[in-house]
Amino acid sequence: MWITKIAGTGSCVPEKIITNNDLSEIVDTSDEWIRSRTGIGERRITEELTTAGLAAKAAQNALLDADMKAEDLELILVATSSPEHFFPSVACEVQGMIGGKNAIAYDLSAACSGFLFALNTAYAFLKSGSYKNALVIGADVMSKMVNWKDRSTCVLFGDGAGAAVIRAEMAEDAGMPEGIRHFIMGSDGSGAGVLTCTARSNGNFLLGKESQMGYLSMNGQEVFKFAVKKVPECISQLLSEADEKKEEISYFLLHQANYRIIESVAKRLKLPLERFPMNIEHYGNTSGASIPILLDELNRSGLLSRGDKLVLSGFGAGLTWGAVLLTW
Ligand code: COA
Repeated sequence: MWITKIAGTGSCVPEKIITNNDLSEIVDTSDEWIRSRTGIGERRITEELTTAGLAAKAAQNALLDADMKAEDLELILVATSSPEHFFPSVACEVQGMIGGKNAIAYDLSAACSGFLFALNTAYAFLKSGSYKNALVIGADVMSKMVNWKDRSTCVLFGDGAGAAVIRAEMAEDAGMPEGIRHFIMGSDGSGAGVLTCTARSNGNFLLGKESQMGYLSMNGQEVFKFAVKKVPECISQLLSEADEKKEEISYFLLHQANYRIIESVAKRLKLPLERFPMNIEHYGNTSGASIPILLDELNRSGLLSRGDKLVLSGFGAGLTWGAVLLTW
């Protein structure tokens, strides 16, 4: 039997650290306000590296971890909402940077749920037998999307990239039964207005409309309500459909948007918060990159053992949400 498993992980965050106190010199905010509302203490902001540059470094780290050459990749998917260009795609840039010349490459846009949507897409290709080796990346430079004069949003986000090599293997070769087991995904365009970033070239020649800079805007409380309801619902549905008990799950890796959202999800699922690893204090919300960065940190810290059951779950603009169950 063929299984689809995560064979390696990697990540890359910029070196430059911007603390809450640094931000209080730019906008009317404080470390106390940001920490108590979100759990964020600092974030990384890129100076030199582009979205593709961060993504390529994360990809190289994932390939090393998987002991795989870039030429062996058949598919490169990048989930991003902050590409440098409308075209070429970040995925094509990454393909060129890492030398993955045999892979087809394209981007996917599902905001903070993007990594899961891309993982689901790669999973479908691998499961169908189209490809055996794929690279899935979540990469975002949110620092170029936010308005640095808007304290209600600029304090929340950070830059980074995370990647996973996905491989289809015969179960006997893999020596383990399952890999990726079940997915739940959802989208609700009727909620599109609560979290948006206007495209930066929305001018119109005929109407004499100049292109303008678009910035991220958000109704924070609506997003909060959506997340604390939808994420536990979606995880419960995932586990019920896969006939798996929540108590059997070693870790729930949630999109790192807000400490209080994660705390509320744990409470609604009646599970101890220790099962919900977090790194939001150090990186803020890195959008599509947050789940794979967290997964890579767990992998590298040795916290994951073969056979551990994991749930990854994300939510974000669209509105979009999703969760995946896998055995490590
Ligand atoms: N520093 C200080 N004060 C701030 C501030 C900041 N950075 N940002 C907003 N405020 C102020 C507001 O102006 C408001 O002041 P007022 O009462 O005088 O009008 C007050 O703080 C409360 O604002 P509010 O928006 O009601 O705060 P909140 O408790 O809802 O917290 C969020 C705001 C954004 C932290 C919270 O709504 C949230 O986390 N939502 C989810 C966002 C998210 O996860 N987005 C990404 C999804 S992928």
